[in-house]
Amino acid sequence: MPTLAVALRVRFNEKWEWCGMATRITARQKAGEAALGGSGGSIAVLVIHGPNLNLLGEREPEVYGRTRLADIDNELKRLGRELEMKVETFQSNSEGGIVDRIQKARGKCDVLLINPGAYTHTSVAIRDAIVAVSIPVIEVHLSNVYRREPFRHHSTIADIAHGRIMGFGAESYSLALRAARTIAEESRRRSG
Ligand code: DQA
Repeated sequence: MPTLAVALRVRFNEKWEWCGMATRITARQKAGEAALGGSGGSIAVLVIHGPNLNLLGEREPEVYGRTRLADIDNELKRLGRELEMKVETFQSNSEGGIVDRIQKARGKCDVLLINPGAYTHTSVAIRDAIVAVSIPVIEVHLSNVYRREPFRHHSTIADIAHGRIMGFGAESYSLALRAARTIAEESRRRSG
């Protein structure tokens, strides 16, 4: 594993400061930076939106709100820059498309945020893909599924998710992105 000298920006006494240090760059970090265009060890987050979420803003606004998917994605990218994280977003209406995107993220991203839409309640394939890539996952929903029909109460990924955030509309995603930063930092600290 190569050892490199890097300049690191650290938060010290409430101020951001630069410091020089030698560090080991892992293959996963390098791949993540290359894949998401990052630099300096940015935390890479992939956000996946499942079926029908491309219609946000028009689809059942009384349940899902009036914010469009593009606005959610733009806000996540803006917040990502603020938190010094690289955020990539992806939407698909097909289960296979989501499985393919999860597989592609293997070794290239630190945390996965996923709102599998209706596949939340049915998809063993999405669950298996998440387990296969070993990336920590946060399950996100706009609505509080427990205040809705009983068939929405079951999630195939609830027990393998690091955590679940739901019921805050578009803000569920921003809350999840903040949580993703904590998860990634903890896991990098653990792996030294
Ligand atoms: C949803 C909840 C699901 O039950 C539903 O099928 C969706 C959206 C949510 O974000 O609240 O498509 O995942």
